[in-house]
Amino acid sequence: MKIPFVAFDEINNRIKNDLVQIFEDFVDSKYYVLGNKVSEFEKEYALFNQMEYCVGLASGLDGLFLALRVLEISEEDEVIVPSNTYIATVLAISMVGAKPIFCEPILQTYNLDPKKIENLISNKTKAIMPVHLYGQCCEMDTIMEIAQKYNLFVVEDNAQSQGATHKGKMTGSFGHINATSFYPTKNLGALGDAGAITTNSKDYADKMKKIRNYGSNKRYFNEIKGVNSRLDELQAAILTYKLKTLEAYTFEREEIARMYSENLENITEINLPKTHPDFKNVFHLYVIRTQKRDLLKDYLEKNGIGTVIHYPIPPHLQEAYKNLGYKKGDFPIAEEIADTILSLPLYIGMKKEEVFYVCQIIKQFFNV
Ligand SMILES: Cc1ncc(COP(=O)(O)O)c(C=O)c1O
Repeated sequence: MKIPFVAFDEINNRIKNDLVQIFEDFVDSKYYVLGNKVSEFEKEYALFNQMEYCVGLASGLDGLFLALRVLEISEEDEVIVPSNTYIATVLAISMVGAKPIFCEPILQTYNLDPKKIENLISNKTKAIMPVHLYGQCCEMDTIMEIAQKYNLFVVEDNAQSQGATHKGKMTGSFGHINATSFYPTKNLGALGDAGAITTNSKDYADKMKKIRNYGSNKRYFNEIKGVNSRLDELQAAILTYKLKTLEAYTFEREEIARMYSENLENITEINLPKTHPDFKNVFHLYVIRTQKRDLLKDYLEKNGIGTVIHYPIPPHLQEAYKNLGYKKGDFPIAEEIADTILSLPLYIGMKKEEVFYVCQIIKQFFNV
């Protein structure tokens, strides 16, 4: 059996006719930039995300970066960010000229450890950026309490957790401005690059709309120095359509995750994903942890199974962040995670037999 890490065949087959129709409507609309399809998606996504406003952007990275710009975070400021996040969260901080302050995650959940935040707060700290990694919400009530106590902004990175909740409240609905990505592999994925921010502040939403469009609301009148980061009209139409099926697809992801967990629970050399009882995990990824990670990855590969490491090098050890002067050992939990995690195949349309085959090969590897 050949099982890729991710596959689009099944989901594309299910929706191809509808996509063709969407494309025809888009062509016939003769409106290709910032038209009705973007505003319709913004309305629908805000509603879905339990927020007042959504502003569609060109990517998730732009969402994070422009959120910090709207909040006027700049040089001399510090922003607290998890030490094990995807590089985009850290890049957004650099893009406004601020300094990333890395905070270690909880080893078992991979999410920001709220107990470690307060020690990192200085008089330069302006914001906390929690990242809901792999589909699970951070401990947002504690994080929001800390932010309130120290008068800090919160910008959630919700790229990996659309639809996840914390005591019934959605990820992307806690912070002052929150960003998400609709990169094709995300739970809500476009057929190209796309992203958005959500906020309850009309001022922030209005400012974001200006910034994404060259700093202008009115053609050729530029009030501020903006960028071009408009959500593409065709991607917006696709996203509005796909948003309707997100709940069903999340259920499919949960089912695959449940099968993995049931079949792998007796292997003592593996740590399975831990979901907090009050949280809904949307399983963007199914990430296991084992000291034999590299050997297991090779063994799965030899047996036709694709896996990925999210992420093999933590931001503080990336070449791009050499200037911060960190070395191996500075963030031991992030490093331990990078050295031991492995994401198993998980995609819409993955069959029961395929999940069982992956589990069988893993059991074979550990002689169970
Ligand atoms: C946690 C996280 N943050 C930010 C991003 C950036 O999103 P994009 O690729 O749409 O810029 C991604 C995905 O790529 C991500 O996984």
